Amino acid sequence: MRTFALLKPEIVTYPSLCWQVLEKTLTAGLEVTRARKTTLTLAEAGKLYAAHKDKFFYERLIRHITSGPVIALELQTGDSTGGDPVARWRQLLGPTKVYRTAYESPNSLRGAFGLTDTRNVGHGSDSPQSVADESALFFDTLTPTNDDACRPSKSD
Ligand code: PPS
Repeated sequence: MRTFALLKPEIVTYPSLCWQVLEKTLTAGLEVTRARKTTLTLAEAGKLYAAHKDKFFYERLIRHITSGPVIALELQTGDSTGGDPVARWRQLLGPTKVYRTAYESPNSLRGAFGLTDTRNVGHGSDSPQSVADESALFFDTLTPTNDDACRPSKSD
């Protein structure tokens, strides 16, 4: 059983943040089975967030997710820990609304690195169907721009 996770531009742009997120992910008992770095087009972002098309924050969401590179991850729970990877990753991420992390989960990824409800570190599929759809979008359809996740760019 696997889940789909996406690291957002405010993390992927900074290799040291990216490594810290990956380290916490591994420490939480999640193993990376596939990774792909890419920069989404507007059309691709529209597919990812189609369910939110009518929300007041849709334009903001699309503008942000296309503003820089993202890293798609396929994750599974390790043999020793087991359990549901969908729930494990979403628990590690913490609440979508970053203000809630202060009292609910300060040690979550969003508690540690989240800035706003848009710039909130990452995304996680919420059902087996969304794992299948989002994995297919990122791993079967899109062209990677750089397969070395978190490799510093020349300007870093
Ligand atoms: S909702 O309202 O319950 O459908 O929202 P939720 O499922 O929690 O979040 C879906 C994605 O929308 C982003 N989001 C926001 N962006 C900007 N402004 C506001 N107020 C806002 N609220 C939610 C949030 O980051 C979620 O993106 P992903 O990539 O799924 O984390």
